[in-house]
Amino acid sequence: MENNIQWFKSALFGMFIHWGAYSVGGRGEWILNREHIPYDEYTEKYVDNFKAEKYNPSEWARLAKKAGMKYVVLTARHHDGFALWDTATTSFNSVNYGPRRDLVRPFVEAVRKEGLKVGLYFSGADWSHPDYPDPYCRDWPEGWKDEESRRRFEEYYKKQLIELMSNYGKIDILWYDGCIPEFSNGEEVNRLVKELQPGILINARNGKPYDFVNCERAIQPPRSDMPWEACQTLNNSWGYYPGDTNYKSARDVVEMLAQVAMGGGNLLLNVGPAPDGTIPEKQAQILLEVGRWLERNGWSLYNSARSPFSWTMFGYLTTKENKVFVHIFRETGKELCIAEIKNKVLDAYYVDTGEKVDFVQAGTRLLLRNLPVPLRDSICTTIAIEVEGKPEPIRPQVNFWVPGYNEEDL
Ligand code: GLC
Repeated sequence: MENNIQWFKSALFGMFIHWGAYSVGGRGEWILNREHIPYDEYTEKYVDNFKAEKYNPSEWARLAKKAGMKYVVLTARHHDGFALWDTATTSFNSVNYGPRRDLVRPFVEAVRKEGLKVGLYFSGADWSHPDYPDPYCRDWPEGWKDEESRRRFEEYYKKQLIELMSNYGKIDILWYDGCIPEFSNGEEVNRLVKELQPGILINARNGKPYDFVNCERAIQPPRSDMPWEACQTLNNSWGYYPGDTNYKSARDVVEMLAQVAMGGGNLLLNVGPAPDGTIPEKQAQILLEVGRWLERNGWSLYNSARSPFSWTMFGYLTTKENKVFVHIFRETGKELCIAEIKNKVLDAYYVDTGEKVDFVQAGTRLLLRNLPVPLRDSICTTIAIEVEGKPEPIRPQVNFWVPGYNEEDL
């Protein structure tokens, strides 16, 4: 079977888009469940007022591209069950209500046209379905009501996926959100998906076979060599939430990119468009600033191998081929010491301009010298170090403990 994992492993950065009827509420994507909103009220207040009147997925795709992102993943259906495509499986969809049109097709076409990879998020759970055990549960139901309802529900979600995998051209990622209670036919469905979409990559939230794993709102590379992706919010919410103004800065995002690159993974960073389909200005600004930084320095991060190096006081060391990239987030003055690199150092230069950096290698320590204070890039200054051979650590990491990482979760 064709396998496209290579593009994913070098992608580094993708855009996650949480958008649906819940966006009308402006309080995130869980409102139906959190506020016990009855479905008739949800339909009247939110679904009917979800008009997508300024929906222009080409703008989303262009923004993603300018931000340096290589793929885009849209919530085709979230937990509320409202399908954003023309589906025969339920009348609760965007053709019958609200926007009165298929929203997935223009998305797929626009993203593809910009040369980016197309991903569809699909929630296993569907609170709107009569066989789903409890839409208002805290937080998830314990089990299915009975075997029959589980089987019916499994048939239903499988049909939805067959539609999405058959009617919209090439799909590059199926991004499952997990279903609680679990499905018993995950393996069968994943195999079917791979038959319908050879080369598609599936995440690990609906059993095997899968191609990559996720960590959510954290950067925790798996212990194994499994391809992986961290998904993160830009403020603290996935769905549109204008009252949540606790935004990460462009610098925070670049720092996350350096962290995922160090682990050889990707960052799937979320935006929450308004119900009309526009991405909030603040979110776009952050992404554009990240894109400008990546334009200057990005080749240090795309396609990174998993770094053999440990943590440092000033930032992150990423690696690729015969290079070590020094990402400086906290200055150390005119001199910066790295006590990690075993190889002979051949050259050191700024990634953005190619200008040489003075260095001296003495025993286990590499000193970068005569650095300007302050460093010239207020987000992150990046220096490439060329070494003899493949980068190797002086002391391999044998025991891992960094505050904030729980070893059992790795
Ligand atoms: C959680 C949330 C969901 C969100 C997802 C993103 O599973 O329930 O709302 O879409 O995280 O990974």
